[in-house]
Amino acid sequence: MTGFATLDDLAFPPFEPGTVWLVGAGPGAPGLLSLLGYHALQQADVIVYDELVADTLLAMAPATTERVYAGKRGGKPSEKQADITLRLIEWATAGRKVLRLKGGDPMMFGRGAEEAMALAAHGIPFRIVPGITTGVGGLAYAGIPVTYRDTNHAVIFLTGHDETGSIPASVDWAAIATAAPVIVMYMAAKHLVSIAEKLIAAGRSRDDSLAVVCHATLPDQYTIDATLGTAGEIVGAIQTPAIVVLGPVGALREHLAWRVGALAENPLG
Ligand SMILES: C[S@@+](CC[C@H](N)C(=O)[O-])C[C@H]1O[C@@H](n2cnc3c(N)ncnc32)[C@H](O)[C@@H]1O
Repeated sequence: MTGFATLDDLAFPPFEPGTVWLVGAGPGAPGLLSLLGYHALQQADVIVYDELVADTLLAMAPATTERVYAGKRGGKPSEKQADITLRLIEWATAGRKVLRLKGGDPMMFGRGAEEAMALAAHGIPFRIVPGITTGVGGLAYAGIPVTYRDTNHAVIFLTGHDETGSIPASVDWAAIATAAPVIVMYMAAKHLVSIAEKLIAAGRSRDDSLAVVCHATLPDQYTIDATLGTAGEIVGAIQTPAIVVLGPVGALREHLAWRVGALAENPLG
């Protein structure tokens, strides 16, 4: 490895004791972590990490750093959000440097804002370090841009389920079906067929392209092509985590799928 250690000599902002850094880990490939995120990994006393944070990324922290898992594994119920937040507050109050490491970007369907609100309410200083969100960076790894001048001037980011596990009740399907040519869907695998039906009922064409990128940025990434009308035929082939994109940009993959052969093998991404 050349040059990586020189990062430690850069003028990074100090990770003060008693503070919490909410850091986005990116979609999975460890190389997509930001420099500030890397710095935080080196400096933290304790790392509280989510399900989709890669082990290879956690391995970049010193062996002595405490690592606390705060996600969902093997179908077991996840730790309550309130308990996670309470622990962040307790550890920061005790003077520890707390790194809250979340998949993708902490502010995109990641409850980063809820945790930051609680920290603010308790007077805990915090910093937000953005990460590459899957709905942009994960798709780019599959050769799919979220915007393309000839096809769309707007994008919608949609979550496929809310905290109850159901399709969010507040979504105005009639509005979003036609508001933008491209809809990027997080957490949509489970209810994909129902979502497709709702969009079709709201005026979207059955023939609109649907692309599903599974395990985006990871070595076993793969993409499935379908249309809104054939969503039911591909759900069995989807392995989570998966990000779904509806609209004409999916077809650009034919020209832009760059991550093939040896390019897909580097463990950093
Ligand atoms: C709770 S949301 C968190 C999103 C995250 N904050 C972000 O900005 O990417 C989890 C969802 O993100 C998507 N996701 C996360 N990592 C992924 C990956 N490596 N490949 C495909 N989708 C992924 C999936 O839709 C998954 O259900």
